[in-house]
Amino acid sequence: MFAEDLRNRLREHIDYFPRKEQAILVCLHEIQDYYGYVPPESLKPLSEMLDMPLNHVEGVVAFYDMFDRETPAKHRIRVCVSIVCHLMDKNRLLKAIEKTLGIKPGEVTPDGKFKLVPVQCLGACSEAPVFMVDEDEYKFEGEEKLNEILSRYT
Ligand code: FES
Repeated sequence: MFAEDLRNRLREHIDYFPRKEQAILVCLHEIQDYYGYVPPESLKPLSEMLDMPLNHVEGVVAFYDMFDRETPAKHRIRVCVSIVCHLMDKNRLLKAIEKTLGIKPGEVTPDGKFKLVPVQCLGACSEAPVFMVDEDEYKFEGEEKLNEILSRYT
């Protein structure tokens, strides 16, 4: 099912580890980078490449909120909703994004450009409240700065 270039990259990851199943997270990231999300139909061929039961692979994807199993968007905005960001007013951040883009958590903008995804701790608690756009991390510093940041993504 995988295109040849993706399959080759997955094979490289799998060959890197002493045991095939150790490559599961890096392979899922590779799939998500390729498609913009983790398509459900990608899990069976991945389970075969990893020699793992399909339900184990499905369980890993379901466990980690960094993997997006639904509607893809060009850019994913991940907003931390864990305790420190919560205490530092993550609601203001979420409301600002919702207002700017007109979407709620889990939704995609009509142009398919952004998806808003609430996630657990992003590991930058000292900067709380924080969010990420794709792989870029930002501290929330008000609506004006938020708009400026989002305008960088085309
Ligand atoms: S609690 Fe938000 S980054 Fe850790």
